[in-house]
Amino acid sequence: MHNFVFHNPTKILFGQGTLEAIGPETRIWGKRILLVYGRSSLRRNGLYDQILASLRTAGLEVAEHGGVRANPLLSHARQGIREARARQAEVIVAAGGGSVIDTAKAIAAGVPVEHDVWKFFTGKKSLKTALPVITVLTLAASGSEMNSGMVLTNDATREKFGFGHRLLHPKTSILDPQATYTVPPDHTVFGAVDAISHLLEFYLTAADPDIPVQDRMMEGLVENSMTACRRCLRDPRDYSGRANLMWTATLALNGLTAAGLGRVGFPMHLIEHSLSALYDIPHGAGMAVILLGWLRAHRTALAHRIAGLGRRLFRLTESDPLLAADQTIARFADWLADVKAPLTLADLGIAAAEIPHIADNTRGLARIWRLAEYSPERVASILLHCLGSDGQQTTMNRSNTSHQGAPGGQCGEESDISP
Ligand code: NZQ
Ligand code: ZN
Repeated sequence: MHNFVFHNPTKILFGQGTLEAIGPETRIWGKRILLVYGRSSLRRNGLYDQILASLRTAGLEVAEHGGVRANPLLSHARQGIREARARQAEVIVAAGGGSVIDTAKAIAAGVPVEHDVWKFFTGKKSLKTALPVITVLTLAASGSEMNSGMVLTNDATREKFGFGHRLLHPKTSILDPQATYTVPPDHTVFGAVDAISHLLEFYLTAADPDIPVQDRMMEGLVENSMTACRRCLRDPRDYSGRANLMWTATLALNGLTAAGLGRVGFPMHLIEHSLSALYDIPHGAGMAVILLGWLRAHRTALAHRIAGLGRRLFRLTESDPLLAADQTIARFADWLADVKAPLTLADLGIAAAEIPHIADNTRGLARIWRLAEYSPERVASILLHCLGSDGQQTTMNRSNTSHQGAPGGQCGEESDISP
């Protein structure tokens, strides 16, 4: 196990009725606030009124920056920075999912500086201060409610980059599972898939083979994501199902599962961010397709690791590692199909001819995330595994022969990247 420092400063208020605490919790940090939220769900499900009432009762002056869309845009975050400055906001309150929380973090980071907030994402500027961020989570997925990361799409360049810094941890996040009752089935699934992908990025790129405490934690969280997702699809108002999915997604990317693994990489997110930047698909939908393709591309190099996961998760008895790895991948594909997640690029409406364009789009983020081994050629070879069954068959044969080494995920140094 590698040395590590685990310090997560975000205070979590979890459970039924915690939403009422948003006013008092925000008041601790200031009086003038900017409330950031999405397009329509917050008003539709009544959370907007509840949150406003609590903020007003706490004596807060509320300015608003609504309209955050999935795969949030840099231009919209810049508007939010201007709005926050004009209203001299002291606190940024996010009420939504990962897109809203990441926009709030970008505003919190951008207000105190003269330069463009995008310079944080490109590594041209380092973060020295940020306004406090308080969140009300309404969708279990990204983990942004309890981590240091934020992800934005630069609308001008069609680049989607992630940036992380400990100063971006929300001060307090309110996780009331009832706030997620209205999440539609597709985004319930996309959120569970995103949580699973956060866990498997660590599980499959960690270089240290002797990490049972992390392995059992991650295996359990993956299993729980799958089980809780099914429960929420059966009954969207299953409080315990929503509570388990919510807390699992938060734990999947709050630093706890990565502690001791050394530096892990996010090669699957590297590729998915290009899908979202270029085709504006939901992050979790892209992750479902990339997860399967990446597993298939690494079935040989990671046969033992994937087989071990399958034995734990699916009680597989196959002793041959390669056959067990294939069975594990097939079980994930079955689950994804069962919860109606997309399985191929075609399911996302993306043609195979787009692969070189997608692979080329990953260059910038691969450089910033120091994933040099993920050349556009390698990304393209992984994307070939994301095609439909026919394309799948030919590439499977090809990958048995021309397989590259183990996946990205340099270990050793800490890094503030955010998937
Ligand atoms: O815009 P509204 O109308 O609110 O609808 C939203 C949105 O369309 C809807 N929604 C949210 N809460 C709801 C609800 N609908 C009904 N009831 C509710 N309670 O869900 C849609 C998707 O919301 P979004 O915030 O985009 O989803 P998610 O939470 O999955 O966030 C995705 C974003 O997070 C980033 C992704 O890249 C993507 O941009 N990520 C952030 C990370 C981080 N900061 O650590 C890590 C992740 O890997 C991820 O990259
Ligand atoms: Zn993700």
